[in-house]
Amino acid sequence: MLKHVHHNFYKKFLYYNNSMKKIKNTLFSNKSVTIDENSLIMALESSCDETACAIVKGGREVLANVVASQIKIHEEFGGVIPEIAAREHLEAVNVVVDEAFKQAGVTGMDISAFAGTVGPGLVGCLLVGMNAAKSLALAYDKPFIGINHLNAHLAANFIDTDLEPPFIALLVSGGHTQIIEMKSYSDIEIIGETIDDAVGEAYDKVARLIGLPYPGGPKLDKMAQQGNPFAYKLPEAKVDGYNFSFSGLKTAVLRLVKSFEENALPTADICASFQECVSSTLYKKVKRALEERGYNQVVLAGGVAANSEIRRKIFSLENDGYKVFAPQMKYCTDNASMVASAAFFFENTFDNVDVEVFSRV
Ligand code: KG4
Ligand code: ZN
Repeated sequence: MLKHVHHNFYKKFLYYNNSMKKIKNTLFSNKSVTIDENSLIMALESSCDETACAIVKGGREVLANVVASQIKIHEEFGGVIPEIAAREHLEAVNVVVDEAFKQAGVTGMDISAFAGTVGPGLVGCLLVGMNAAKSLALAYDKPFIGINHLNAHLAANFIDTDLEPPFIALLVSGGHTQIIEMKSYSDIEIIGETIDDAVGEAYDKVARLIGLPYPGGPKLDKMAQQGNPFAYKLPEAKVDGYNFSFSGLKTAVLRLVKSFEENALPTADICASFQECVSSTLYKKVKRALEERGYNQVVLAGGVAANSEIRRKIFSLENDGYKVFAPQMKYCTDNASMVASAAFFFENTFDNVDVEVFSRV
């Protein structure tokens, strides 16, 4: 019996080592570098309004996580102004890199590879972080690993956990709403997505409609917790397969708001009803995907994964025997730890010095 257990353990250990070890070439002199569980990866993220740098060991252990947020600057305009954001990234990028080295207590010599988000996102913003990561890789003669921002959001779930594919993921952010089937680190398929607004976008637009300041999503969530989720019945879009639509819901909220004319708006009830409609739509489609595709693990990802009710509903799947993962709050919205983790785990990365940033997938 003991022998049997020992044998299995040994096999698992071998498998883990083999699957996680990677060889990458350095940017400058094309030397090969082995990346394994003890390797440190430094990553930069600047796709939207957060300038972030992190150092992560073996894809799961965060040694430094630095985020410089531009919320204060964009608050004034009620949204992100790309040109201003890009300039802010330039101001912040060296500061976050220095701070990450300081937090982790290491130097560039200790880093095995430098990763950067290459898209999707705001082009001018992406350029800053990606080029900083490439420059560091050149200067220290280490590999550069280019990362897709959506893969990074998924990878936030690997931090401090033992999660491994296969799983179904619900990715909800300011720009994307997708149900993803992740069979392995190289086999990832989008099986459903929004045909119009992303969930985060719908949150931000509805928040604006009812007078909540930017960024509206988290504020709407907070307000919703004080309201009655069944006060107003809002329409759930009927969309094929695992796809979504949220623009009709947004219009329905607009109509509801207008119906109060000069009277005081029952803000909390509207927020709660909106949140109920969105979260139950997401929950139903995710549950269907799990059942129809035969998965037992589900992963929540993206900025909107911070939402209290979406988290609650998705975690309720534990009662049906599913294993549920969601990133810690600080790794839900944009950060660089998730980029470093993606650089460690994902197979389909952009490792070329010539790789260009892209705005859309
Ligand atoms: O992933 P993320 O940081 O940026 C993108 O890649 O888009 O997501 C930002 C989005 C914003 O739309 C923000 O309003 C939304 O996530 N968000 C939330 C919550 N926290 C952030 N939406 C609803 N409830 C929240 N608690
Ligand atoms: Zn994001």
